[in-house]
Amino acid sequence: MSENLIQKEPRIFSNDLPPVGPIAFGLWRYTTDDLYEATKLLDTAIELGMNLIDNADVYGFDWGGEGFGACEELLGRVIKAKPDLRDQIVLSTKGGIVPPVPYDSSRQYLRSACEASLKRLQVEQIDLYQIHRPDIYTHPSEVAEVLDSLVSEGKIKTVGVSNYSPNQVSVLSSHMDAPLVATQPEFSVNCLTPLRDGTFDQCLSTGMVPLAWSPLSGGKLATGDGIRPELIELLDELSVRESVDRATIAIAFILANPAEPIPIVGTQQTSRLRELAKATGVNLTREDVYNLIEASDGVPLP
Ligand SMILES: NC(=O)c1ccc[n+]([C@@H]2O[C@H](COP(=O)([O-])OP(=O)(O)OC[C@H]3O[C@@H](n4cnc5c(N)ncnc54)[C@H](OP(=O)(O)O)[C@@H]3O)[C@@H](O)[C@H]2O)c1
Repeated sequence: MSENLIQKEPRIFSNDLPPVGPIAFGLWRYTTDDLYEATKLLDTAIELGMNLIDNADVYGFDWGGEGFGACEELLGRVIKAKPDLRDQIVLSTKGGIVPPVPYDSSRQYLRSACEASLKRLQVEQIDLYQIHRPDIYTHPSEVAEVLDSLVSEGKIKTVGVSNYSPNQVSVLSSHMDAPLVATQPEFSVNCLTPLRDGTFDQCLSTGMVPLAWSPLSGGKLATGDGIRPELIELLDELSVRESVDRATIAIAFILANPAEPIPIVGTQQTSRLRELAKATGVNLTREDVYNLIEASDGVPLP
């Protein structure tokens, strides 16, 4: 059998942050009103090595939440009740989506958004602050200036972006003093864009860490809804071979890339977090990943 491609080592964003596990826990759907359940989810993620916790100010606005800021507020209440948790996580959040505008990265807005996130999270500093979506009507020099000042004031430790094209990353970087340490595109075996649009190439050349959002395509790769039958068939074959769930093979596919992406899993069930954590123990070969890409595309590679 050829070599196992799974990249299971911790990821390093910068010397200023502790290493993070190869799988992260996302809080888009962290909308329970039960503080005990919310704490248990966070405890389980940490226990499984998913110490990067990905939030955003807009989480709670949709997906069963109580409104803009609700998922940050809930995490803030969990940390307040159990302060030891703060040092066990790398706390990541995002700003810049403003319904119904929809995007604002102006100096004044980003500063106020970041300060509001700090208040809701009840912390002194955000470890990784990401621009959620590019606001193409703010000059990147203005975005860079406010991000650099938030770093120098100690409100945020490091900076990342999400849903930025590689060119947008380069332009913002060229105006910044602080490095961009992370980029967060959608990536899964059902959404292969970062393999082909230069996102992962840029990470390999700059050292930026890619964070993969909706790694199960929002659950579709687990349920099979709307996914090519040949892809589901292959995921199922591999899941029998590796003795894990189909969803866990889909997470392992992400871990196999040499850019060392971190899948941000979004399940709100501790048993599913435990199952997905097994992805680091899966073996995927070069032939397996190319077969998965062909099954996802529905056509053979040239
Ligand atoms: N930057 C951005 O623009 C952006 C956009 C979207 C998401 N994100 C980030 O990515 C994270 C993950 O996104 P996501 O929630 O769409 O991720 P996902 O892991 O692709 O999907 C999770 C969803 O799949 C469901 N699911 C069904 N069967 C499952 C199974 N067997 N195992 C696991 N989950 C199963 C889960 O339901 P249960 O909870 O019932 O298990 C949950 O609703 C978010 O929390 C957020 O941090 C970022």
